[in-house]
Amino acid sequence: MNTEIFKITDENRNTKAAEETIEKAGKILQNGGLVAFPTETVYGLGGDALNPESSRKIYAAKGRPSDNPLIVHICRWEDLPPIVKEIPETARRLADAFWPGPLTMILEKSDRVPKETTGGLSTVAVRMPNDKTALSLIREAGGYIAAPSANLSGRPSPTLAKYVQEDLGGRIEMILDGGQACIGLESTIVDLTEDVPMILRPGYITREMLSGVLGEVKVDRAILPEGSDIAPKAPGMKYRHYAPRAELTIIAGEESAVVRRINELVREAEEKGLCCGVIATEKTAERYRGALVKNAGDREQEEMAAKELYRILREFDEEAVDVIYSEAFAESGIGQAVMNRLLKAAGHRIENAEMMQKRKCKKL
Ligand code: TXA
Ligand code: MG
Repeated sequence: MNTEIFKITDENRNTKAAEETIEKAGKILQNGGLVAFPTETVYGLGGDALNPESSRKIYAAKGRPSDNPLIVHICRWEDLPPIVKEIPETARRLADAFWPGPLTMILEKSDRVPKETTGGLSTVAVRMPNDKTALSLIREAGGYIAAPSANLSGRPSPTLAKYVQEDLGGRIEMILDGGQACIGLESTIVDLTEDVPMILRPGYITREMLSGVLGEVKVDRAILPEGSDIAPKAPGMKYRHYAPRAELTIIAGEESAVVRRINELVREAEEKGLCCGVIATEKTAERYRGALVKNAGDREQEEMAAKELYRILREFDEEAVDVIYSEAFAESGIGQAVMNRLLKAAGHRIENAEMMQKRKCKKL
């Protein structure tokens, strides 16, 4: 299959050509085809959410297990009632505060949503993305686009169209290129089907932000570092996602101890003839020796690390490094989402620079 690629950015959005492209993409989706498109979090691989055949194609194109449900993307609040059993007050309040935006809500599904889209579950994940191209495409497609991240299963989510092309080129009809995704990590997922709302996947919308609107909010224990032996409630969180090809280890602890330990590990690896990569931050980047060093930005602005993490992991793949050592990030605010993805990419390999004790979790 030939995959067509079109660029749609703020510069050309209002041109006839861009409008025709979105129309064409909408038709592809209505006819059961697949189109990858930009969102503010990561690129999505879209198919018609109400067409079981489209959902089957999404799983096939990604090589994704079909028990891992898809997120249904909508562009208007009025499109929510037909696909859910009921709308709890919590959903209304969260939509007012955060939609369109990087928040996915889990609700009881209606019969309109095929089980192929929800991986057999009686609930459905719904999000209204905050990206103009995504919103126009959803409208053109008829209102409902099922879209997982547009990567091959097991690869980091794409934050640039070229990574979508790399993973899915030849497998889908079209890619809409909207430049670099501005958040860079997948949406926060909150389950609203229980008495107390629960975060199933951390993201840009933090627990503090959700609590500000809803009051008490729980976090699925399975996604916390101590819960790595429990089955997560979001099926996709159990897979070893976001994996770079190189072995990644996170080094935590006080800054200078971390720098010292990583330099020591790089030396040892180099002696074995291995090529090393280091994920550093603004203040430490210059202090590493003998490795390919990538700067994930200022520690005071961890949104930067969120935006750059997947790109950095993919670049290390391109550069064929054998091992990667990464500094740890704060476990609060957006830092929690960064650490969650980093821990998964590392298969939960984390070492404390001070204690030099290796802890390897069973969960992959
Ligand atoms: O930011 C995002 O959410 C991106 C963009 C494209 O919107 N999409 C995304 O989709 O990350 P995906 O398929 O890569 O991740 C969806 C996650 C999976 O972990 C899946 O198991 C979970 O959402 N999920 C979907 N439906 C669910 C449901 N009904 N109950 C629990 N978890 C669900
Ligand atoms: Mg994904």
